[in-house]
Amino acid sequence: MANSKYEYVKSYEFEDEIMQPNLIVVRLDGRNFERFSEIHEFEKPNDVRALNLMNSCATAVVEEYPDIVFSYGFDDEYSFVFKKTSNFYQRRASKMLTLIVSFFSSVYATKWKEFFPQKELEYPPSFHARVISCATLEVLQVYLAWRQNACHSDNLCRTCFWMLIRSGKTIEEAKEALKDCQKEEKNELLFQRFGINYKKLPEMFRQGSCIFKTEVEVVVKYDEHGNPIKRLRRKPNIVHTQNIVAKKFWNEQLVLVKELGGFEDEIAKIKTEYVKSFLFENKLLPSTYIVIRIDGCHFHRFSDIHGFEKPNDAQALNLMNTCAVAVLKEFHDIVFAYGVSDEYSFVLRKNSQFNQRQASQIVSAIVSFFSTMYAMKWKEFFPQKNLKYPPSFDGRAVCYPSEEILQDYLAWRQVDCHINNQYNTCFWMLVKSGKTKAEAQQCLKGTQTQEKYELLSRQFGTDYSSLPVMFRQGSFVYRMKEVVVDHSNIIERSFWKEYSSILEEMPAHTSAANECTQTSVSAS
Ligand code: GTP
Ligand code: MG
Repeated sequence: MANSKYEYVKSYEFEDEIMQPNLIVVRLDGRNFERFSEIHEFEKPNDVRALNLMNSCATAVVEEYPDIVFSYGFDDEYSFVFKKTSNFYQRRASKMLTLIVSFFSSVYATKWKEFFPQKELEYPPSFHARVISCATLEVLQVYLAWRQNACHSDNLCRTCFWMLIRSGKTIEEAKEALKDCQKEEKNELLFQRFGINYKKLPEMFRQGSCIFKTEVEVVVKYDEHGNPIKRLRRKPNIVHTQNIVAKKFWNEQLVLVKELGGFEDEIAKIKTEYVKSFLFENKLLPSTYIVIRIDGCHFHRFSDIHGFEKPNDAQALNLMNTCAVAVLKEFHDIVFAYGVSDEYSFVLRKNSQFNQRQASQIVSAIVSFFSTMYAMKWKEFFPQKNLKYPPSFDGRAVCYPSEEILQDYLAWRQVDCHINNQYNTCFWMLVKSGKTKAEAQQCLKGTQTQEKYELLSRQFGTDYSSLPVMFRQGSFVYRMKEVVVDHSNIIERSFWKEYSSILEEMPAHTSAANECTQTSVSAS
């Protein structure tokens, strides 16, 4: 297909491959889950259904992505560890983290009813994610020990806090009572005041949950004599254990030792310099427009399986647009979005401080929110069709330094829409008229725009420019008094003259109130 003069904008995209032999962990955690758990009346300090739902989503992730060999989660977070030789999406960090968080999020939305049959999902749950690269197996061991320590101490603290609240203390009083309180004192408090032996509380609350695979023989088929043919298959197990990085536990798991290696020492102390590296986040360039482009993962298959109309399914596009509108309503720093087919580009204002401009936080939150929304809204758009499997989207963040380059970026996407849509319209008309796919392809090889116009009008009596504008030009979303969807030619600079206010900077104080801040579920 022809290259447009806008293709140069691709050079602003950067690669973020995590080189061998670093071990890759993707960690996700709930966004605003304190509010989410209050609205959905999760039991305190721990809600078994919510934890089981998290475990069930993590199991789905592990089954979907065979390169993940170990996972550990508690509360509203989960860490997924890839095998050391993984070449998943060429080890590109943003692809890995967005696909995992997107898939996890849409599974969470689709499985909600299974775990909370009496409760409607009031609004889309979403998750942040980041990639942690561990230079050695020892660093991974420390990382996992650090997460399990957080589980132990958060849970102890939360348990004390909610027991104090139940006994009549105010939030302030409970916080004051626990200030500077050591682990032993908290254990004592539970035992003396409430008769609770902390060690007897459910393992899942105290120790978190880990998922790893064991190899089991399964019957895959029968030969002509009816004898079973068996193969080794890896099955995920959910396990609770006091110390996930103890040699005794880890080194006994054959798959872990094979795919990651065995631990040589026990963890004596968590090194602070390692923890610093686990907390490190890449920041996007200041004073640049941030574009988050998301794209449906294997939507060719998804659209086939769900019987989307070809080449354009208006309902599928309307669903994408509705999700984009919801994204603009949720993330106030997004000023404009442009979508076509299974992709959407979201533009954040130039001086946005959303999530301190941390790339993975921003891209994961948007991808995750969009994915849950897509799963939740599905029935509204396809009342006759069940969602056969959870859709997922990948995402990337790119910075554009000026309005002109940003406009060229958006023009590039619309030129792409035009080229693809014109081609697909001709292709499917030829196929519907009786040509094979190969013949249709041959017919269109090397044809220019004008020739395709003529082919449509000569052979099919179709005037391309009379086809629905949403198909030909894609959709854009922006904020007036309301967030609205529209269709127009955004390649022409006259569009940006007409809509000049969209990219104008707001005064800093109006946007500060719009920041979405991550709040911890922990009572401490
Ligand atoms: P990856 O993005 O690389 O995972 O592959 P993909 O299969 O999603 O393909 P890509 O993103 O390049 O293209 C989107 C695909 O989604 C199109 O090729 C179509 O097959 C499908 N698609 C998107 N919108 C529609 C639609 O309205 N109708 C139909 N029938 N298919 C659609
Ligand atoms: Mg796609």
